[in-house]
Amino acid sequence: MALKDSIQSLMSQVSEMQAANADELEALRIKYLSKKGEITALFNEFRSVPNEQKRELGQLLNQLRQETEGRINELREQFETKAAEADKLDLTRTPDPIALGTRHPLSLVREEIEDIFSRIGFTIAQGPEVEDDKHVYGMLNFAPEHPARDMQDTFFIEKEPGVQKPTDVLLRSHTSSVQTRVMTSQKPPIRVLCPGRVYRNEAISARAHCFFHQVEGLYVDKHVSYADLREALLYFSKEMFGPETKIRLRPSYFPFTEPSAEMDISCNICGGKGCSFCKGTGWVEILGCGMVDPNVLESCGIDSKVYSGYAFGMGVERITNLKYRVKDLRLFSENDVRFLRQFESC
Ligand code: DAH
Repeated sequence: MALKDSIQSLMSQVSEMQAANADELEALRIKYLSKKGEITALFNEFRSVPNEQKRELGQLLNQLRQETEGRINELREQFETKAAEADKLDLTRTPDPIALGTRHPLSLVREEIEDIFSRIGFTIAQGPEVEDDKHVYGMLNFAPEHPARDMQDTFFIEKEPGVQKPTDVLLRSHTSSVQTRVMTSQKPPIRVLCPGRVYRNEAISARAHCFFHQVEGLYVDKHVSYADLREALLYFSKEMFGPETKIRLRPSYFPFTEPSAEMDISCNICGGKGCSFCKGTGWVEILGCGMVDPNVLESCGIDSKVYSGYAFGMGVERITNLKYRVKDLRLFSENDVRFLRQFESC
């Protein structure tokens, strides 16, 4: 019964039929079902089968043809759905945006300050945060018993843990320490801006923190005058807070400058008319400044008869508060993304 065997062997071939792509599938269809295909050939053979076998073999042959067609259709559908899914992919679409980080407001303001002063010839200088007494106080004309070490609430670093021996290693409490480092390592003319973090032993509140940021400025050359200082600060204030901004210098005291002053700008909220921010005065204080004390020049090896200089120091948080009205200092270091994201477009 050669025909029956052929049908059964094709049956098992067909049930395992696989195609990797549409071309392979078409080749299979031709192999089995075309006019010259193997199944068609069996139908031809069927014509010469004796009548008593026709019923059984006829059924088997029909079954083989249906199964082959069914299997081919099944495989074709698989290709079609894959192709349809591939069509749905829009390969030109930009990928989902990755949430980008934002610039920290203090960095934005520090960079703006650096940028403004770089336009009048200042370069950046850095110094260590863990400092010694000499660079933070001694060479800046603080007398050995000067209360400023307490006044500035210095963090002293214990040489042996838990043993509070007198120590001259400390966390710098102001960036004025970078002045002494620069003046001992460079010769005038010196024109530097020293941004950095400073530390003070203060209870943390909305208005005070144990660390914050300052930018120090220093210019030492022949014939540097108080008028030069005033001009540089007026230029800075107008660039930072707008061309209408006015400044005023009030006499003050710092050990490392003589004369010393504190500088106010006209309140950028009320324009100088007086509001709750400037407590009705129309002015807000933004920095300390003065002419570098000759003792400081001398302690750094600069001849104070030949050279003079000016210096100023400002708090970056203070300037940022004025620009962006951040009322609570703690926000700057809490990493709350709801706060930080507000600076996305800056
Ligand atoms: N170092 C001062 C402070 O932390 C700020 C300061 C005042 C810096 C006057 C200066 C200056 O360079 O001339 O309060």
